[in-house]
Amino acid sequence: MDDGPDFVRLRAAGRKVTAMGQDIGPWRPLPHCRFLIGICHFPEQEPREQISDDARLMAEAGIETVRMGEFAWSVVEPEEGRFDFSLFDEAIAVLGAHGIDTIFCTPTATPPRWLSHRHPGILRVDGDGRSQRHGSRQHADVTSPLFRDHSRRITRALADHYRGNRHVIGWQTDNEFNTHFSETHSDAAQAAFRLWLRARYRDIGALNAAWGTVFWNRQYGDFGEIETPVNNRPASADPSHLLDYRRFLADATRDFQREQLAILRAANPDWFLFHNIGRLNDTDLRDFGADLDFLGTDVYPGLRDEYLKAGLGYSQAMQLDSFRGWSGNFIIPELQLGSGAHPGFAIPAPEPGELRRFAFSSVARGADGILWFRWTSARYGAEAYWMGALDHDRVPRRRYAELKETIADLKAVRGDILGTSVDANVAILAADWENEIAQASFSLGLPSLAELSLPLHHHCYQRNIVCSFAAPGDDLARAKIAFVPHLALWDARWTDNLTAFVEAGGIIVVGARTATRNENNHVLETAAPGALRGLCGVSVREFGRLPAPGASSLLSGAVFQVEALQSGRVAESAKREHFIELGGAEIRAAHGYEIVDPAPGTEVIGRWASRFLAGEAAITRRRLGAGQVIYVGTYLTPGLAASLFDPLFAQAGIHPPALPPGVEQVCRSGPSGTYRFLQNTGAEARTVASPDGDIDLAPYGCMIVRMPR
Ligand code: GAL
Repeated sequence: MDDGPDFVRLRAAGRKVTAMGQDIGPWRPLPHCRFLIGICHFPEQEPREQISDDARLMAEAGIETVRMGEFAWSVVEPEEGRFDFSLFDEAIAVLGAHGIDTIFCTPTATPPRWLSHRHPGILRVDGDGRSQRHGSRQHADVTSPLFRDHSRRITRALADHYRGNRHVIGWQTDNEFNTHFSETHSDAAQAAFRLWLRARYRDIGALNAAWGTVFWNRQYGDFGEIETPVNNRPASADPSHLLDYRRFLADATRDFQREQLAILRAANPDWFLFHNIGRLNDTDLRDFGADLDFLGTDVYPGLRDEYLKAGLGYSQAMQLDSFRGWSGNFIIPELQLGSGAHPGFAIPAPEPGELRRFAFSSVARGADGILWFRWTSARYGAEAYWMGALDHDRVPRRRYAELKETIADLKAVRGDILGTSVDANVAILAADWENEIAQASFSLGLPSLAELSLPLHHHCYQRNIVCSFAAPGDDLARAKIAFVPHLALWDARWTDNLTAFVEAGGIIVVGARTATRNENNHVLETAAPGALRGLCGVSVREFGRLPAPGASSLLSGAVFQVEALQSGRVAESAKREHFIELGGAEIRAAHGYEIVDPAPGTEVIGRWASRFLAGEAAITRRRLGAGQVIYVGTYLTPGLAASLFDPLFAQAGIHPPALPPGVEQVCRSGPSGTYRFLQNTGAEARTVASPDGDIDLAPYGCMIVRMPR
């Protein structure tokens, strides 16, 4: 690569993650010296004669990079062993002549029909034993040895073909692994799962002990008797079995990708390699990401319907603040550019100015490179009406003009921004895969760890206090407060890390149910919070479930629910409402209660205030060194998050800025200085008062202010 960009590699910089994931944390800038600005393009879906016009219009908009090829296996290999790269060769050359580089993708998210037809055994099988059919995407099984042979074959063919092409600068592996679903129960998966278990346990007795198979008479005599946890069982599955299955799936996806990475690296060590994470992923992103040069996450604020009630700004903030915890800074390989649709739904079109706001909010929260999705608007297939920079008639209108303007603005600041990271001083220690899957495997009806952290994240968001997800083993030097969200599996090494953080002045807040289970998902024989009893200065005497926030009872049977809804009454004995008295207010508790016994020296700051719990300790504080450890014998609700954390923010010296409604502030700092990003997430103009004069923000307006040193 004579005049290709100069990429500083993670490995070259000696920044490979440690087993503790110490080097990857939310404060890690992207180990990469170019801020990518690009767009996703599908030349195979466009008339061939358009290539030149497309390249010209892209160059005029300031686009420097195009990502392509992720669904184009049949285009480059129309029949097994017969390759035709001509379309992409031409597209890459024409784009290159306009100064636009290419990121190519391994096209394994959509294997060709000739492959699935000839070898239906490569198809993924769901939990009901139904083999997936050809016709959409992600239908192939990453555990199938035959599919893996073909994955290596197509990757090698592409890598060999493009190894000397100076316009091809990097690769995306596959596309959004497991975004639709992650399971597979095929024959290949059964064999691979048994092999995986054999490697983990070596003898069947060890597996029987780890899974507690004496419960319900599930003892296995041999690894050959074990199946993946398929759906058709009369009662609940074994949570240890489920946990190992999720570990197996994660390893399978990682190993599948690893094979592609090895081929790409051998072909051209200058290429940068990444993956675009979608909604689901079901891998340990720390582990999966350590194999890559950096991670990417696709951002469609309008698609995150679980957060939409809180607004598009919040939906984006939640996604990025949590993603950063797994990866540090990242790129966005797909950023929503227009409205989007699938046959059964459509997401809202960004209003004028919102496209730019999506981009600047992304950069504010850790993006060090953006590619928009997509160049043209799809005209057919499951995403017809997914709108790109050009309209269906290929005329560049509002979206193109806004894209061009946004790119110019990004180019003006990217040089300063690169190398900085997000100033988050509240850390939510939910970025731990083992805990995430342990929770999913035995949830007790509780939401995920990320969802249990939402009341805190949302409260901080509303107050413009920036939070980041992080792992409990991360270097927390840049945090002032860390929340431990119910991590049932506890790694003894984390205790030392958190103790050091507290002694140096940090505040940790430990939630209910932390450190209560072992790596097999078995309940510990010690009282909660297990290995953290010393650090927290408490021991849990009793615990139980409470209704979810807003729910009136624990009722879950459909018949009774319906009756209760119709009559509007829930029997008194089913209500189980409880309140906590904290700082003079009574707050309704949700999800669960614990009666906490404080050790000598631990002070009680919140007490249960209802029925049989009245007067018992619920929330405690232990002072240690320059910091403090708060134990919370329940789960956060919006009310509890505000009452508990607001005084802690003040004690930690975190002073939220006063900003007009809908305006977000996030700062990034690094060697080049500190940059204050202001974003108006609303459709009305706002004015932000500042010592240097008022800052006017148009609807969806954004501003970056360099802070004095
Ligand atoms: C992403 C995916 C793209 C496209 C887009 C819009 O999740 O990677 O290929 O499907 O969503 O639906």
